[in-house]
Amino acid sequence: MNPPASRPLHRVLILNGPNLNQLGKREPEIYGSTTLATIETLCRKHAQTHGLTMTFQQSNHEGVLIDAIQNSSDEALIINAAALTHQSIALLDSLRAFTGFILEVHLSNIYKREPYRRHSYISEAADGLICGLGAQGYLLALDAVAHHLNESPKEKAHV
Ligand code: DQA
Repeated sequence: MNPPASRPLHRVLILNGPNLNQLGKREPEIYGSTTLATIETLCRKHAQTHGLTMTFQQSNHEGVLIDAIQNSSDEALIINAAALTHQSIALLDSLRAFTGFILEVHLSNIYKREPYRRHSYISEAADGLICGLGAQGYLLALDAVAHHLNESPKEKAHV
């Protein structure tokens, strides 16, 4: 008899936009002192505890992020689009065509900041949004992805 097939791992892509590679030294009073490399490590460990396979990427270039979204076959996407959040309809369009679960994340609370940061183009395509919780927001987003991907359709109707 064949051994029981193990449950397939769910896949999540975490995308980070312009200037997030500078975390740790960039405006630490706003974004904290945690580097993006540390956030990646924390996310990788957390994804593992949920049985998620994770890809983590950062780019300063809008087109690279759009290519990553277009080429993704992941079931979920966590995106901190950084400043592109407030200016990119192109990014919004690529997210609208992504068929998986989308969570928008920001380290800072964009609704408590400058007026030009209080509008997000990409929220229209997101299933949920976490902001203002620093690096913890990424981990909470992974919790939400795991919950979303693992929940049965019956549960989904009630939660
Ligand atoms: C950010 C908020 C954006 O307004 C800003 O341009 C960023 C980071 C955040 O994580 O708080 O680069 O997305």
